[in-house]
Amino acid sequence: MLNSLKQQLKRILQRLQRNRAAEKLKQQANHISAEQLQHDLQQLGVQQGDTLFLHSSLKSLGYVVGGPATVIKVLQQLVGEQGNILLPAYYLPGGTIEATCQLTDYQFDPRIHGTHMGRLPETFLQLPGVKRSLHPTHSVAVWGAQADYLTNGHHQAPSVFGEGSPWQRFTALPQAKVLGLGISMGPVTFYHLLEDQLGEAFPLNVWHQEYRLPCIDQDNQIWQVPVKSYKPELTQQRIDHPSRADLREFFRQSLQQAGLLQQAQVGDSQSWLLPAAGFLTHLQWLAERGITIYTPEAELAQKAANLP
Ligand SMILES: CC(C)(COP(=O)(O)OP(=O)(O)OC[C@H]1O[C@@H](n2cnc3c(N)ncnc32)[C@H](O)[C@@H]1OP(=O)(O)O)[C@@H](O)C(=O)NCCC(=O)NCCS
Repeated sequence: MLNSLKQQLKRILQRLQRNRAAEKLKQQANHISAEQLQHDLQQLGVQQGDTLFLHSSLKSLGYVVGGPATVIKVLQQLVGEQGNILLPAYYLPGGTIEATCQLTDYQFDPRIHGTHMGRLPETFLQLPGVKRSLHPTHSVAVWGAQADYLTNGHHQAPSVFGEGSPWQRFTALPQAKVLGLGISMGPVTFYHLLEDQLGEAFPLNVWHQEYRLPCIDQDNQIWQVPVKSYKPELTQQRIDHPSRADLREFFRQSLQQAGLLQQAQVGDSQSWLLPAAGFLTHLQWLAERGITIYTPEAELAQKAANLP
């Protein structure tokens, strides 16, 4: 009783804080309309029939009139009924993968658990027709023609990014693209696909521990789903760590030189788009030359100098 009251109070406070922050942004930032977003995303290269895996920062776009729902609606119209939109709907009640895996009373339930991946994923999860994969740490939300195919079976995949996971299925689709709206080259889950794909052939062992976490499906069946945590020392030097601007810039330039990275301003933000299959091939090409999202700064400078 007391707990539920506390939860309710927490939600009300959060809503108030969010309204205040949005109001401040409305007064201070440029107003970005649906029409402008549509124009900018087309300039970036988003097309009818695309399947987009989106990572986003709403605030970077400026003040979007209509909020996160506007961004999603514009993307839905641009990719059309033949396309798909995937968003990370990861839920990490421990704060990190490792801490989540160590929780003793956690069971993922897509009907009650939200996401910690930002305002766009939160809003997306509430929309009609959006499907969600059953996964204790890396649930993926999908809208579009292949939403069922992309989300089904994640809990039965041998690993987060393994055969049958949304990432494997996404990458094999024609017009599959990774879209970074207002984010750097850092928080991009797609990099990890290569680790699962190459296994021991990946230049380093990134795994710390392997766990099985329970998930409950729509029929109340419990599944024990495999999750591997990353070595903590490696997450400190990874491309998404604040200290690794050098690695983010290296990957940005390398993907650009390979003719893969498209960049444009969307609203007030610098945004980017990458064809998934080419992205993966390029990551593998770099890995074969010893460069990964974990390569330390001095080593990166040396290896980058030796690239053809
Ligand atoms: C962490 C991250 C989400 C933060 O970005 P953000 O823009 O601050 O956060 P959100 O996208 O959740 O949007 C919320 C912000 O938008 C603001 N906002 C509210 N209404 C808005 C509107 N109509 N238009 C624009 N911004 C608005 C909110 O005020 C809030 O800003 P505040 O925290 O300063 O109050 C982002 O940097 C990031 O890393 N994104 C990728 C996440 C991901 O996919 N991770 C998986 C990779 S492994």
